[in-house]
Amino acid sequence: MKGIILAGGEGTRLYPLTRVTSKQLLPVYDKPMIFYPLETLLRAGIRDILIIVAPSRAGDFLRILGSGKTFNARFTYEIQDKPEGLAQAFIIGENFIGDDTVAMILGDNIFENDFSKDIDNFTSGAMIFTTEVDHPERFGVVHFDSNGEVSEILEKPTKSESNSVVTGLYVYDNSVIQKAKSLQPSPRGELEITDLNNLYLCEKNLHVKRFKGAWFDTGTFESLFLASAFIRQKNL
Ligand code: DAU
Repeated sequence: MKGIILAGGEGTRLYPLTRVTSKQLLPVYDKPMIFYPLETLLRAGIRDILIIVAPSRAGDFLRILGSGKTFNARFTYEIQDKPEGLAQAFIIGENFIGDDTVAMILGDNIFENDFSKDIDNFTSGAMIFTTEVDHPERFGVVHFDSNGEVSEILEKPTKSESNSVVTGLYVYDNSVIQKAKSLQPSPRGELEITDLNNLYLCEKNLHVKRFKGAWFDTGTFESLFLASAFIRQKNL
């Protein structure tokens, strides 16, 4: 299985911290943020990893991560010219993925869990990982029917009865490339990962795994601070 770390975007929500460097390189306690999602992939045995970055920040990533040798891995880099959506990663990464399956993790997502067993057992379709949060409106939200089956995923609904949200680790079979190419930009101009997941759901090929450990989407000052405190306390 190949791995992708999506680490593009402008990080405007974290200005002025991100005026001269990328959000995914900001410190989370004693390491640059991207080290944590990288470790999640490495722990799952994924060694061939594409890192997608914004054009103005590419040099910073190369300096800090290099070829991957020090991590016992192989890194490839691609530029995303504009932040046109999470699902664009599979179009940018088409050649890198080749005929393989792929796990993508967001460069600002920090997980306590080890997903190696789930990833090891993956065969086909798509696998996403959910957890419960108090304010689901910031995320992709999973809705369930009366039988407890997933009925749909909504991206940042204004109001939600479900607290179950999609976190930033996604595992796909090779059809993800064609599916990503078939997407239309959303009203906010992005190729949405939620639309991609709903395509798999329509095919009855979406596996939804709920996990219990800590999870941080470090895209706000508050979550960045909480993630640093958690890492320090847990000695991760
Ligand atoms: O963190 C999980 C959430 O991630 C999911 O619940 C949502 O369904 C999903 O859309 C996404 O929501 P966010 O609002 O957190 O996405 P954001 O725009 O902040 O992008 C997530 C990361 O991906 C961030 O580090 C920047 C990077 N990114 C984003 C876009 C849109 C890129 O590298 N390229 C892009 O085009």
